[in-house]
Amino acid sequence: MENANVLRDDLLRAIGDADTLDTLESLRVAALGKKGSITALMKSLGGMDPEARRQAGQALNVIKDEVAEALDARKTVLARAALDTRLEAERLDMTLPVRPESRGAIHPVSQTWEEVVAIFAQMGFDVAEGPDVEDDFHNFTALNFPPGHPAREMHDTFFLPEREDGTRHLLRTHTSPVQIRTMKARKPPLRILIPGRTYRCDSDMTHTPMFHQFEGLVIDKATHFGHLKGCLQEFVEAYFEVDAIPMRFRPSFFPFTEPSAEVDIGCSRKDGTLKIGAGDSWLEILGCGMVHPNVLRSAGYDPEEVQGFAFGMGLERIAMLKYGIPDLRTFFESDLRWLRHYGFSALDVPTVQGGLSR
Ligand code: DAH
Repeated sequence: MENANVLRDDLLRAIGDADTLDTLESLRVAALGKKGSITALMKSLGGMDPEARRQAGQALNVIKDEVAEALDARKTVLARAALDTRLEAERLDMTLPVRPESRGAIHPVSQTWEEVVAIFAQMGFDVAEGPDVEDDFHNFTALNFPPGHPAREMHDTFFLPEREDGTRHLLRTHTSPVQIRTMKARKPPLRILIPGRTYRCDSDMTHTPMFHQFEGLVIDKATHFGHLKGCLQEFVEAYFEVDAIPMRFRPSFFPFTEPSAEVDIGCSRKDGTLKIGAGDSWLEILGCGMVHPNVLRSAGYDPEEVQGFAFGMGLERIAMLKYGIPDLRTFFESDLRWLRHYGFSALDVPTVQGGLSR
């Protein structure tokens, strides 16, 4: 067994010297593998006398265990060293400052649009839309505008160049033409909300050439002015998030409604701050009325069969009032500082139950 002890010493030394896991693995195969040196010695036991075999066998097993143990121990050391080297090489600098994040915000027009849609959806209205480029019929004639009405003049309305057939299209001056389009496309009863862009030749602190409106239209067999009042009261309280807002219906005129009214809500203006919902002052917020029989007729409805109410309001106007935005023009200047200040968080989707303007 002399050479077995020599072999063991050689192996243990080589294992101690191995400086990579690969070298160590080659040593393991060379000693304990199928054709390894210790395996070969084990095989040679077969040709010995029983007594000699027993002694040599025991001694060989001890050597085999010693070598296996040395291999394991060295493997642990080398694996840890390899991990240390890797960690050293891949070290992250946790002290680096984070990159500045740029988070978007929802524009007050979009937010208000969603709020108003959520409120009217709750009352059973569905949304209807129509084209920005309209014809004279839908924008004026079908809505009972007389031929010489000032809104038909160049200085109020953006007209497009005359077409070959002599007609001139225009950028719609209100969302009311969609009343006609929807009535023609559908059968009563109707309960629709029409949000959209509108255009007028106007520009100052409270007017921009493009702005947004909401139009409501309800048509049924017996819809009356009381329904209109109830619906608007409900809307105003939900939108401004104030209970029991005083409301005043002032007689007014629109070609497409009869009777017509402008609606004011109660407010106070103490020390230059506007507060909605109480006080001794009034603030105009929208126009409304009972749909004129001529309008029903233009849409192919019989005024003896159905009647209804309509209302229209400026989206930016009610946004300015609720969120205290003083100048209408700033809505469309695309100033990021303005948007960061007045914008809304993208994940706060307005709902009547969950809250509109969080
Ligand atoms: N179209 C009107 C405007 O632009 C607003 C309006 C008033 C719409 C009364 C209506 C309504 O439907 O009934 O000034």
